[in-house]
Amino acid sequence: SFMQKLTGIADLADKLKKQLKISDVIVVPLDSDTAVTVKNQIGKEAARLLEMNFTGETKVAVTGGSTMAAIAKELKGEKAYPSLQFIAARGGLGEDVLHQANTIASAFAEKTGGSFKTLYLPDHLSEEAYAMMMKEPLIKEMMDLYEQTDLVVHGIGNAEELALRRQSTAEEVQMITEGGAVSEAFGYYFDAEGNVVYRIRSAGIQLEQVQKAPNIIAVAGGHSKAKAILSYFKNAPERTVLVTDEGAATEVLKLI
Ligand code: F6P
Repeated sequence: SFMQKLTGIADLADKLKKQLKISDVIVVPLDSDTAVTVKNQIGKEAARLLEMNFTGETKVAVTGGSTMAAIAKELKGEKAYPSLQFIAARGGLGEDVLHQANTIASAFAEKTGGSFKTLYLPDHLSEEAYAMMMKEPLIKEMMDLYEQTDLVVHGIGNAEELALRRQSTAEEVQMITEGGAVSEAFGYYFDAEGNVVYRIRSAGIQLEQVQKAPNIIAVAGGHSKAKAILSYFKNAPERTVLVTDEGAATEVLKLI
């Protein structure tokens, strides 16, 4: 019955929350790998959760990806939060425009009536270029904003898939595979134990800045992301709230 299904989902969320040792997990029915509308449901749940957090002046750092884009679509377009500031968590020109953090930050601002800050930088800078960029006043300004972030909203992906999606260099792919990377979030690659094995050389939010942000929301669904979710949450801040789907949740619990 419908009620049994709802209890089943709540139970699943509760089990996952305990296993991942985080403050909350929201699970939507079905699996976004097999039904396209499920990602929109993840987006909807995350949008409602965000709207509850959108009070007062809030600096919100956002990453890219299709799940983040689903949140933007589901936010109410009432422009009710003019004091919000959305900050693209990464430069990231390696990705499809619609899924770039810059695009997501502007979409969130458009819906909520807030402002946004973007960062247009290639994903794979040389060491020299990176060192020079970091001295640029505009980049410094972004770095200061990351330091003051109240809320981070980010996706989680499969390490290999992300390396390919970003057209990483052969050297980067080697670092990622040899390091045993399983998951990726905000430009960092993590192994099965949640240790950072690689970080893309591009301006962006630092792991330490995510870790000290007062509020963190992660969005990721689909059974194919189970290993990545498990890897990322080995070392993630406990106050993270995960919005996921039944497909991913069931598979993660099977892996434990
Ligand atoms: O590239 C941005 C990003 O947020 C990554 O950090 C993350 O791994 C990925 O996108 C998730 O993408 P999607 O939601 O499309 O699976």
